[in-house]
Amino acid sequence: MLSRDLSMWRSRARLISGLVLFAFVLSHLTAHGFLLISFDRAGAALDILMYLWRTAIGTAILVCAASVHCLNALWSIYVRRSLRLARWEWCQLGLGLCIPPLLMLHVTGTRVAEEFLGLKSSYGSVLAVQWQLSPWVGLVQIAAVLTVWVHACIGLHHWLRVKPWYARWRALFVGFALLLPTVALCGYVSAGNQLLRQGGRAKSVLAESHLTEETRADITRIARTESIIYLALVFAPLLGRGLRGWLHRRRKLPFLSHSTGRRMLMLPGATVLETLRANRIPHASVCGGRARCTTCRVLVTKGLDTLPAPSGLEAKALVRIGATPGMRLACQIRPTADISVIPLLSAAAGPVDGKVRGGLEGRERPITVLFVDLRGSTALGVAKMPYDFLYILNQFFQEMTKALDATNGHYAQFAGDGLMALYGLDSKEPATGIIDALDGAREMLARIDRLNGWLRGDLPHPLRIGIGIHFGEAVVGAMGPPTAQIISAIGEMVNVCAHLESLTKEYNCPVIISRLAAEAAGFDLDDRELRRATVRGLSQPVEFYTVEGLSDLRV
Ligand code: FES
Repeated sequence: MLSRDLSMWRSRARLISGLVLFAFVLSHLTAHGFLLISFDRAGAALDILMYLWRTAIGTAILVCAASVHCLNALWSIYVRRSLRLARWEWCQLGLGLCIPPLLMLHVTGTRVAEEFLGLKSSYGSVLAVQWQLSPWVGLVQIAAVLTVWVHACIGLHHWLRVKPWYARWRALFVGFALLLPTVALCGYVSAGNQLLRQGGRAKSVLAESHLTEETRADITRIARTESIIYLALVFAPLLGRGLRGWLHRRRKLPFLSHSTGRRMLMLPGATVLETLRANRIPHASVCGGRARCTTCRVLVTKGLDTLPAPSGLEAKALVRIGATPGMRLACQIRPTADISVIPLLSAAAGPVDGKVRGGLEGRERPITVLFVDLRGSTALGVAKMPYDFLYILNQFFQEMTKALDATNGHYAQFAGDGLMALYGLDSKEPATGIIDALDGAREMLARIDRLNGWLRGDLPHPLRIGIGIHFGEAVVGAMGPPTAQIISAIGEMVNVCAHLESLTKEYNCPVIISRLAAEAAGFDLDDRELRRATVRGLSQPVEFYTVEGLSDLRV
């Protein structure tokens, strides 16, 4: 229990310290952007933006955040039982570990030297050192800016991607993430060049800053000592891991049984997720084991009574998704006795899947279903070599899946040259799912246009898709073989939706939306013709609207 509470506090401390550091980086880079105007403007902007960070309290907060963030990363290396991580986790950890040595000289040459060596640094003096006296320091500085920024963006992205609103704002964030460092680095390069052109200016700003050869030697010596201490700190958790492994070698370890039929020894003290990864068994983990995404959820079929009850972050996450008995997060449980688990989401589950409530229990509920199908795929298969055809199909699926990710859609079923998706899995308002589904349709059509542009030379004719959207009651839950279960839906309304999608061929339109869906979303469709079609097995004809341009479909 204590270790669970500690891990919850550690997770909060990592997030808060990361956000504090990000705020500092934002202020710093914004000020650099003003170098594009002039040194004076940039200096003034820096004074304003850095004001808080230069006060005693601001400095204390910053130092505290940097120490907490760094020590937390080192602790995470020690505490992990397996270093088999997802690519993004390696990237974030690796870049994070590179930041202190990359910034050591800069921080020592400015803040530390101002405090202890009587230096008066300014934009001019820093740029004179980095562009004239030691140009290699300038390159290190550029590498530091990019490393810090990419590390921060990866962290923020993986924190925010489980938030429902994030998908809508992602494009804006990406634009900002590209713009700010570009402007900051352009300012840095332009100011550096300006300083080089005005040869005499560098000398005068260096003299004003009181930077002598002795001070520079002191700065280098301090930075070197700091780097050695940092290196020792980085090796400490690795040594600790080796020692722990040696001590644990004699322990009797429990077995973990997986629904694929594989049985493996638990890594000493490891979570189920770590043990699965160490044994190369793919398992979903969108948040990297931080109890945020719930995509690692498993059903414990044996050994549940030997596990401590959920607490801390795990308990909160399980309550949030309305977990059923026996459901636990693989990234949080550390079995000490034999245990058997069944993954509840596919290994490729994304952030949206983590919002799906419950697990295996199917229940009837209102849901929006979207079917999308690639038109003329049979003719395309005949016209192209099998390899080329598969390539085109896979590009198509990739684009459709991206469209789902961007619009809160949940991939639910693969059907040859089409797929079925669910919308509104996590919302109580029917309109939300339907509006998201229309956004999904819009995104799909836009992506097909783009794909046609990319594949222009390879296609006998442009790709076309048909989309059917329907809303109604269906049985929703995890289904499929035990090793590959995914959340899907079955029921009459699903068949109706598939039929609506097939009608897009007959009506030669890209999208058909059922009357029920249109009414539930509150669309104003008075000016459109209500059409009817009979569906096999249904006594009543299904009513629907054909849609040409989605942009004019408004609530
Ligand atoms: S991996 Fe995200 S909650 Fe377990």
